[in-house]
Order: sequence, then C-alpha cells, then structure tokens
Amino acid sequence: MTGAGASRACRAAADPPSGPCQGPVLVTGGTGYIGSHTCVCLQAAGYAVLVVDDLSNSGRGVLDAIAGISGTMPLFECADVRDAEAIDRIVARHRPVAAIHFAGVKSVAESSRSPAMYYDINVGGSLCLLKAMARQAPPRIVFSSSATVYGEPEHLPLRESHPLHPESAYGRSKMMVELVLEDVCTADTGASVVALRYFNPVGAHASGELGESPRGIPENLMPYLGRVASGLASRLSVFGDNYPTPDGTCIRDYVHVMDLAAAHVAALRLVLHAPGFHVANIGSGTGISVLELIDAYSAACGRALDYEVVGRRPGDVACYYADPTVARHLLGWTAQRDVHQMCADAHRYATSAAASRASRPAAGRTTPAAGIHARRAGRISGIPVERAGAGTGPGMDASL
Ligand SMILES: NC(=O)c1ccc[n+]([C@@H]2O[C@H](COP(=O)([O-])OP(=O)(O)OC[C@H]3O[C@@H](n4cnc5c(N)ncnc54)[C@H](O)[C@@H]3O)[C@@H](O)[C@H]2O)c1
Repeated sequence: MTGAGASRACRAAADPPSGPCQGPVLVTGGTGYIGSHTCVCLQAAGYAVLVVDDLSNSGRGVLDAIAGISGTMPLFECADVRDAEAIDRIVARHRPVAAIHFAGVKSVAESSRSPAMYYDINVGGSLCLLKAMARQAPPRIVFSSSATVYGEPEHLPLRESHPLHPESAYGRSKMMVELVLEDVCTADTGASVVALRYFNPVGAHASGELGESPRGIPENLMPYLGRVASGLASRLSVFGDNYPTPDGTCIRDYVHVMDLAAAHVAALRLVLHAPGFHVANIGSGTGISVLELIDAYSAACGRALDYEVVGRRPGDVACYYADPTVARHLLGWTAQRDVHQMCADAHRYATSAAASRASRPAAGRTTPAAGIHARRAGRISGIPVERAGAGTGPGMDASL
C-alpha cells in the first residue's frame, strides 16, 4: 500500500512497460473478482498497480492476498469512481500511465430492478474516470465490457461484428460506455481504448487465496456449484434440458479468470502502444453445457453433485460462445486453461479459508461502503432476503 512498494515493483520488473517507469496502472475495482487476479498478473509482469475501489463488493483483505501471492502490496485508494473530485485528485497525484476499468455492478437481474443505479455506476463512473484520465494526457483505458452487449445471437460463434442489441439495463450500460469510448478515440487520435467483451469468467487463483466471493446467493453457476460441493446448498437447479443442444442443457463459453487476467495485461500493452479503439471477445471459443460443467466439477470435488432439472428460465438462450480470433490476432491471447482446471481451482477456493473469510457478512465491515454493498445485494444484516435467482439473459449462466 506504499509508494515504496510500487517503486520496488518497477525496479523488479520482469517484463517492464516500455520506457522508464512513469506511473502505476490504475485498476478500478481492483479488489473485486476479476480485478484482483489481474493485479496479480500485472505485478508479475512488472507493472506498478494502483487500486481504486470503494469496497462495495469486496474487502481490504483482498489486498493482502494480492501481496501474499505477488510479493508486492499494490497502492490503494478507497474511492467511488463516481466521485469526480476524488478521482481527479487520485489521477493528478499518481499520474497513472493507463487505467483498467473494472469497477461497476454486474447483475442482469438487479439491473432490471434498478436501472438508474446501473447507469449511474456503470456509465457515470466510466465518464468520471475518462474525464480524469483525459485531463492528464490522451486517455489509455482497458474497459471491462461483456458479451451481454450482443443480446440474442443471430449467428454463432459470436464475432465482434455481430449487431449489438443488449436486452438488459446492464448490457445497455456496457454498450453505452463502449460507444462513448469509441467516440473519444475518434475525436482524440492520441487516445487508446481496448474494450474486452468477457464471456463467462470462472475459476480462481491456483493458490486458493483469491477467487469469486459473491455475497448472498450466487447468481452464477460455478459459485453455486461450490456451495453444493461444500454442503451450503443441497442441490443445483438446472433450468431446462430440452434445448436444441447435444444434452439438452444450455451451452456457455467459460473462461478461466487467470486467462482473463492475462488478456488484460496483453490489452494494457496494446493501449500503451497503439492509439485507437479496439474491441475483442474474451472467451475460450468452446461451448460447455450445464451438465458437462456439473460433471467436471463433480470430478474436481470427488463426488457426484446433486441436481434437479426444472423448467426453463425466461430469457435464457440455448447457446452462447465466442469467436476469439480477434483476441488472438490483436492481443496474441488465447485461453490456456480447460474446464477441469477451472473447476479444480474454483473448488480449491470455494473450500478455502480465504473464501470463508471473504463471505463473512458485509455488516461486520467498518467502511462506509459496506452499507452501500448491503443495500445493493438486497441483504439485511448480512442475511439474504431473496433468492437472487433470475440472472437471465443471453450470455448469462443458465443454471443455479
Ligand atoms: N464476473 C462476470 O461474470 C463478468 C462478466 C462480464 C463483465 N464483467 C464486468 O467485469 C467487471 C468486474 O467484474 P467482477 O466480476 O470482478 O465484479 P466484482 O463485483 O467482483 O468487482 C467489482 C469491484 O468494483 C468495486 N466497485 C463497484 N462499484 C464501485 C464504485 N462505484 N466505485 C469504486 N469501486 C466500485 C467493487 O467493490 C468490486 O471490488 C465489472 O465491470 C463487470 O460488469 C464481469
């Protein structure tokens, strides 16, 4: 958390940014699931990291985990990305070379209930960051977008040229930010942006110290499998087995979070060297059905996980998977880890001490943001008050 720590990271660079070490990489949402794994990869690649997070969906302990794994404590500023004054001050003080923008909210179902909050955080927060970065120099930003921007597929695999017709406020918030960033790159020829459209991030760091810790009932399939495997839930509901797929269950494109983190390091290199607006799918290109994922997780945890087939969920589409060709050509990136490694790493984390620490009720935390998080997650005193079940829509997991 110190400037000295950041300088050490620069001096020890194994693969340092080109030229002298000018400033850290600003990582908004860096204590979250994908952000924290990316911090580990950035530090391993020799970048100094400055995390900005309001801790609304994560905890400070994640910084210790990042430091434990990578040997370097990232710089940290607790701030809301919508707080223009704070973000301006942070950017002016640290002069980051680029930003990787993860901070935001990500539930399709919640976005249908609270669209204004989604636009405020996802679009408003992105604008604040963009303006602060642009005040210092032409902005260089890697943006967390989502495959949900495509909406229902007109063809598969999904290519970046597929029309965008997102079906939720969440998906539209991501599309809006992409459009803004593209316009900025058109207006400012020095600006550079890579928008990464993630498919289904899963898995965890192999150490078992970092992983996905959803508060309350998970909306995604993999953390829910972790709950069943660790006895916190009795069985999984599979929403429909009569889709036009080989085993009748929905097919998604899962990508290991460490592969996803590596894609951010590659995208960072691109924004540091190539002005313009770029967009790339980040998926494996391989479709995995719900039943295949259950089988793989059962093998990883050593027992057959119980599930029951229930009715289809409105909004789910049968198949959703990426064409990752652009990522290969543009970033030199392809997914390396298969579904067995995704499940093994996810299970190691789900049953780790780190996961039980991370899933403690937010009410116990002392940051002002804890209350914000508790409201967002629909919890009262740390008790889930509803089954966060819908999570529907193209690109979303097809089971709980
Ligand atoms: N996880 C997925 O399945 C997935 C898929 C596609 C896209 N994405 C996008 O990737 C990004 C990261 O997702 P994640 O899974 O790591 O989520 P996460 O909730 O684990 O991490 C987000 C982090 O941002 C922080 N944050 C939220 N609002 C903030 C604000 N206003 N100011 C500062 N910090 C704030 C949270 O505290 C959290 O640490 C999000 O933008 C999400 O929309 C995620």
